[in-house]
Amino acid sequence: MAAVFPIKPVWDQPGSSRIPFWAYTDEALYKRELERLFYHGHWCYVGLEAEIPNPGDYKRSVIGERSVILTRAADGSINVVENVCAHRGMQFCRERHGNKTEFVCPYHQWTYTLTGDLQGVPFRRGVKQDGKINGGMPKEFNTADHGLTKLKVATRGGVVFASFDHDIESLEDFLGPDMTAYFDRLFNGRKLTILGYNRQRIPGNWKLMQENIKDPYHPGLLHTWFVTYGLWRADNKSELKMDAQYRHAAMISTRGQQAASKEVTAGVTSFKAGMEINDKRLLDIVPEPWWNGPTAVMMTVFPSVIFQQQVNSVSTRHIQPDGAGSFDFVWTHFGFEDDTPEMTERRLIQANLFGPAGFVSADDGEVIELSQMGFEQKPNHRTLAELGGYGVENTDHMVTETLIRGMYNYWRKVMEV
Ligand code: FES
Ligand code: FE2
Repeated sequence: MAAVFPIKPVWDQPGSSRIPFWAYTDEALYKRELERLFYHGHWCYVGLEAEIPNPGDYKRSVIGERSVILTRAADGSINVVENVCAHRGMQFCRERHGNKTEFVCPYHQWTYTLTGDLQGVPFRRGVKQDGKINGGMPKEFNTADHGLTKLKVATRGGVVFASFDHDIESLEDFLGPDMTAYFDRLFNGRKLTILGYNRQRIPGNWKLMQENIKDPYHPGLLHTWFVTYGLWRADNKSELKMDAQYRHAAMISTRGQQAASKEVTAGVTSFKAGMEINDKRLLDIVPEPWWNGPTAVMMTVFPSVIFQQQVNSVSTRHIQPDGAGSFDFVWTHFGFEDDTPEMTERRLIQANLFGPAGFVSADDGEVIELSQMGFEQKPNHRTLAELGGYGVENTDHMVTETLIRGMYNYWRKVMEV
């Protein structure tokens, strides 16, 4: 008889250093993640103010699996509304970006303001025929009761977050003081300019993307680009920091000026001592005053977004889950209004390290896909995140998986697993 392997959401290991494979594959658990992490209690990223600079501008975005629209109304206010018609539920907005004075649902032409209020219902008072009024909405129908779902919105430094949960704490409390400081380092009030987008669908669980940017162990081992050109190596001066609940994190690294030490490259198959790039502009790095030391700060804001500064390349990376085994990953590369044309060019060239075909990030997409394949093949097994011990603490080096343990410490509490 074939063996049966029921997957029970019982995490029998203590702590958070061994993560069951079913945490990445179980669909019921995934539904609970959407509810507890994306739809309640967490600020989720929706976009940048610079994407909607003018009144009437809008951008379609996503929180969890729910389609939302980021709008700039006539009065300049920033709003986020759910992309579901109050009549019969249609996702009425299909364009990614645009400019409109109102939203019209194509199905029965209900119209909404850019702040989500219902303003027009065709045949509301019926249709006159042979001297009598046919149909129409009931007398007590009140348009004020049938607007779009409006989300709570928070903006800081040009970044827009939203939440379906109107009782949520402030964005600053959500981030905590340390993460807010790193956030402000990047988004320090200068106006942002949008340089472009990458989109990819990665066939892996969405948490793997958060883990990837909480994992300073892999960059100097997996990524030939980083280890060979010294952008990210285990002997770089670095720090790992978390918020008080361990859900968000920053990996802070300063590129070494010294030649690579023997230990960090010996036997590392991705280190190619003789490798040279033809287009030297890819390594044309110019320090910027706002860096304040670190050459790279990779910040994970749980659960929805990553803020990246890798030398002169800056981007947001939006995690949009789609089932337990897949997510869309949307990169927004940006710059600053006071950038010189040379700096803009430099940011664009360095952006080639990232995105689905990036010299660095292509590796991450692939290892996430292959990890998910391992999880599905062996659901009763678990991962091991014990580099640097079992506990969760900030460190002044990168030879640890403390940030991953921190994230699952938080996840277990909120998910009650
Ligand atoms: Fe939108 Fe009917 S579903 S108007
Ligand atoms: Fe990576």
